Amino acid sequence: MNSTSTAQIAQDVLDLNSDLAGSEPKDVLRQVADLWPNLALSFSGAEDVVLIEMASKLPHTPTVFTLDTGRLHPQTYAFIENVRKHYSLAIETLHPDPQRLSKLIQSKGLFSFYEDGHSECCDIRKVEPLRAKLATVDAWVTGQRQDQSPTRADVPVVELDNNFSSPKHPLIKVNPLANWSSEDVWGYIRMLDVPYNELHDAGFISIGCEPCTRPTGPNQHEREGRWWWEEATIKECGLHRANTEDQRKRT
Ligand code: ADX
Ligand code: SF4
Repeated sequence: MNSTSTAQIAQDVLDLNSDLAGSEPKDVLRQVADLWPNLALSFSGAEDVVLIEMASKLPHTPTVFTLDTGRLHPQTYAFIENVRKHYSLAIETLHPDPQRLSKLIQSKGLFSFYEDGHSECCDIRKVEPLRAKLATVDAWVTGQRQDQSPTRADVPVVELDNNFSSPKHPLIKVNPLANWSSEDVWGYIRMLDVPYNELHDAGFISIGCEPCTRPTGPNQHEREGRWWWEEATIKECGLHRANTEDQRKRT
């Protein structure tokens, strides 16, 4: 692909985003599944199960994958299993490279993120396994919402993923719930009896790895329980780096 075609793809994606910006998430999923049948849905939290529920009604359910960092809560593993059974889904579980992980643990221990930030550990446990998976698909779906975090305020429904695209492999990122609120998500979960992580009943809102997640109190923003020792403006782990680097404005 040359630079002209990259620009053309970026423009086509912007046009598609304008077309889909007001659409219901289920219609977004239907359209992108038609456009990119080699589509994968990333699954970890409440938003993602809402999308799995919607996708389960499509003629072909997209591949569903989860990043098993090895540091998830037992309740999260139980939740993944519950979702697998509930939807009869073959959830693909992605793991970190054992050699890179072992090198990190040997040199810095199991909790280096509290001392020098979460990016090195997240890179090994999440970003690299994700990068390998995304190299095999044309488009991926996430459960990001604009009101989830200051870093996500501009998340579009469809974008060219500059973080994981390469000149030979343009990758489309789809965020069908970009315009949904937390209330919309939980209203849907309650209405359709969608499975959810039992940690939500114990005060957790946004749930990641066990050592980097804590419950949130009254009037705290949902992301305040994630990497609480770091600045709110950098609370992205690299899965969604464009949100902090503002790459999408440069397409
Ligand atoms: S994170 O980057 O801060 O961890 P967050 O928990 O808000 O992300 O989730 C946002 C979206 O990223 C999810 O809806 C999902 O699409 C994707 N995601 C996050 N963590 C994982 C994971 N462990 N496995 C697969 N997808 C994930
Ligand atoms: Fe490591 Fe914490 Fe990132 Fe999980 S969230 S990969 S434990 S730094």
